[in-house]
Amino acid sequence: MLLHLKKKSSDMARFVIHEEKGPFKIPASEEPAFICMCGLSKNKPYCDNSHMKTLDEEDEITYIYDGDTRYDVDEEMS
Ligand code: FES
Repeated sequence: MLLHLKKKSSDMARFVIHEEKGPFKIPASEEPAFICMCGLSKNKPYCDNSHMKTLDEEDEITYIYDGDTRYDVDEEMS
């Protein structure tokens, strides 16, 4: 994979690939509990429904999420 990214600041510490588009349900809990598998939850390890942002992703494109903004790796981040 060839990745070209430009970002104004250097606050991106790592690039992690998450391919799941939904949570992992913990099977034996009293209350249903869902573990984030998409990497976007602001309440990790639990799902906060941020995965809804991934539902229209195309399989052939790798995306980068930065706050509420989504880029694909061919876009230049500004
Ligand atoms: S699976 Fe990540 S927020 Fe739901």
